[in-house]
Amino acid sequence: MSIKPIFNRVLPILCDPTTGEALTFDGENFRSSTDSYPIVGGVPRFVSSDHYVGSFSFEWNTHHDTQLDCVRGDRSSEKEFIAKTQFTPEELSGKLVLDAGVGAGRYADIVSRWGGDLVGVDLSYAVEASNRNFLDRGNVWIAQADIGALPFKPETFDVIFSIGVLHHTPNTKDYFMKLVRLVKPGGTIAIWVYPRHGDYIIRERWIRFVNKIPSRMFYRWCRWFIPWATAHLDNPWIGAIRRIFPFPTHGLGIEHDILDTFDGYSPTYHGIHSPEEVEGWFREAGLENIYRPSDWFTCVRGFKPR
Ligand SMILES: C[S@@+](CC[C@H](N)C(=O)[O-])C[C@H]1O[C@@H](n2cnc3c(N)ncnc32)[C@H](O)[C@@H]1O
Repeated sequence: MSIKPIFNRVLPILCDPTTGEALTFDGENFRSSTDSYPIVGGVPRFVSSDHYVGSFSFEWNTHHDTQLDCVRGDRSSEKEFIAKTQFTPEELSGKLVLDAGVGAGRYADIVSRWGGDLVGVDLSYAVEASNRNFLDRGNVWIAQADIGALPFKPETFDVIFSIGVLHHTPNTKDYFMKLVRLVKPGGTIAIWVYPRHGDYIIRERWIRFVNKIPSRMFYRWCRWFIPWATAHLDNPWIGAIRRIFPFPTHGLGIEHDILDTFDGYSPTYHGIHSPEEVEGWFREAGLENIYRPSDWFTCVRGFKPR
């Protein structure tokens, strides 16, 4: 692993995910008195496998740059990031920012271009894709880790965001609470989770069956079905299928829609929540100045009291 400038900021906040003891680094492994965590393929690993997120390991290594603005040459991910968080470049520049569930790094791309020091964690092997995507950015540090047991000391991040992630964990609220502990006093946290609304409710009925299909097989079907269905959207039969089996047509290209269809039906967990429920978690966590950055239903932001 080549040492990036951001590492000097990350090393002092690292701790053993099980015991909380501070970690040291010997050039190859992070060590506590009880455990050691290796760097494999250039990525620090604080988990032994990708556990229940195999579909995401497949997804993000297949679509490693489909949603990256810096590759697409547009601002589609940036617009969504701003809508869901109301973060600005002025607010994030120079800050230590945690992207919890970084995936291939579409939001890490934005924060690092805005001048934030970006730590991205993910339980899946998506970290191999995101690490490759940002090898040349000295302000991005990627690690494979579980939000349920992160290797960071309490109250260490100025800013934390988690977009489209917590509803894919075994317990959305519990995993959110784990993130709140890592926010510095005066810092802020923003999340977006699936709403209890429209297509998300329909997908909840399908997902328990579809997520049993091997990722490669379901993905191959998406690669056939989405281009065909998209070419026949005027056909009433396709309209009928779409009401029962919703699939996206975002206008961002067919690769984007294939990716999003696979993403919407393949994960192990698919929690859905109301905005009031999510705001309740923020209040219970003791956060203040809680608000919804936009009408994307379940995006909520709050601040930790100083
Ligand atoms: C839909 S993707 C979103 C990725 C990224 N935030 C984005 O919007 O492009 C959800 C991500 O959450 C990750 N994830 C799920 N459970 C996790 C956990 N317990 N710890 C860390 N990451 C997790 C998955 O591996 C996956 O990459």
